[in-house]
Amino acid sequence: MSIQIPRGTQDILPGEVEKWQYVEEVAKTLCYNYQYKEIRTPIFEASELFTRGVGDTTDIVQKEMYMFEDRGGRSLALRPEGTASVVRSFVGNKMFGHPNQPTKLFYSGPMFRYERPQAGRYRQFVQFGVEALGSEDPAIDAEVISLAMGIYKKLGLTQLKLVINSLGDAGSRNAHREALINHFKPRIDEFCGDCQNRLEKNPLRILDCKKDRDHELMSTAPSILDYLNDESKQYFEKVQKHLSGMDVEFTVDPTLVRGLDYYNHTAFEIMSDAEGFGAITTLCGGGRYNGLVEMIGGPETPGIGFAFSIERLLSALEAEGVELPIEQGVECFIVSLGDDAKDYAVKLLHNLRAAGISSEKDYLDRKVKGQFKAADRYEAKYVAVIGDNELQENKINLKDMATGEQEEVSLDQLVDNVKSKLGK
Ligand code: HAM
Repeated sequence: MSIQIPRGTQDILPGEVEKWQYVEEVAKTLCYNYQYKEIRTPIFEASELFTRGVGDTTDIVQKEMYMFEDRGGRSLALRPEGTASVVRSFVGNKMFGHPNQPTKLFYSGPMFRYERPQAGRYRQFVQFGVEALGSEDPAIDAEVISLAMGIYKKLGLTQLKLVINSLGDAGSRNAHREALINHFKPRIDEFCGDCQNRLEKNPLRILDCKKDRDHELMSTAPSILDYLNDESKQYFEKVQKHLSGMDVEFTVDPTLVRGLDYYNHTAFEIMSDAEGFGAITTLCGGGRYNGLVEMIGGPETPGIGFAFSIERLLSALEAEGVELPIEQGVECFIVSLGDDAKDYAVKLLHNLRAAGISSEKDYLDRKVKGQFKAADRYEAKYVAVIGDNELQENKINLKDMATGEQEEVSLDQLVDNVKSKLGK
């Protein structure tokens, strides 16, 4: 019996991979414009990093983490997200000591969550994310949000909805926490076991329970916005003012709480409004996490960031019918006729490639007609045709496949000729 691919994972095949490369390149370029630099961290980390960082009452840690013990008896986890790892690295490498602050980083790589697979939800998915550590200026919040929106817009998405909220500082959150406990406590036995456990530990988590989402107490739960103290209110207003100043449209949704524990102040999500995008409409999520650096053992440092999966981004592009400008064709294909020409084609192909021209030839002993068909399949821009006679005369026939025009070129000139035609 053949071995199946694990549930919730997918192979990204040639043809599709180019789309991944393209969107990642656009995202990276924009990050560099905004002065974010790439960081690469391990795919597995000490489990404790996430139980502490993401929160041990979250679904991600309680139900979705791939944990294992290595041969040395250490408890490790495949990373379910990137923020905790970046913060661990920020602390471990003492990046806070670098004169250039805030520290602005981006990353891209596979994340793992044991979730119920469905459209847009995988057990291995690739997150592209950014983190800005070391500044508590509301302008950084606005920068991070506008960067996320900028990536989507640059790729051609238009049906987007940006939703923001403030979870306030520790004082505001405590006041809200009390209010939530008072709200749910009298009827907590109508809720699932998880919610009952979370009531005292972390009542905010009740609000993103998937099982009890339709319970009437959910819609009447106290809103965090009513519990923001003046400082938190002013902070949130300033973020909104900067966003408006940058013409980034948004709506405030006081029910947006996010599924990770480290957030405070600004929280945001970007959704796709495109018809046919599917049930899960969130493309990107992020927010501020002042306190996380300390929790992971570093000095008091504020932070904010976001992450989105390439999988959901590509689905949104598809739902909106956006065609990515991906060139897959080969620049020059060599068709040969006769044994000597066939041998010569090997060397010629090598020279074309050495000159930076993407090129290919036949390797299956096809007849000339078959070789031309292959050139079509490769979407060749130029086809160089050489037979034994031409070889003796030091000539080669070059066909422009778009116009059908043909010309005879001296063999020594072929590489330069194709190069200049391609504008290289
Ligand atoms: P998150 O909301 O858990 O936040 O995930 C962010 C994004 O990752 C989602 O909006 C979605 O695009 C993608 N995603 C999550 N789970 C899956 C899945 N099972 N399949 C496909 N895509 C998925 C975080 O991970 C935070 N670390 C974001 C952040 C960075 N906050 C501050 N900095």
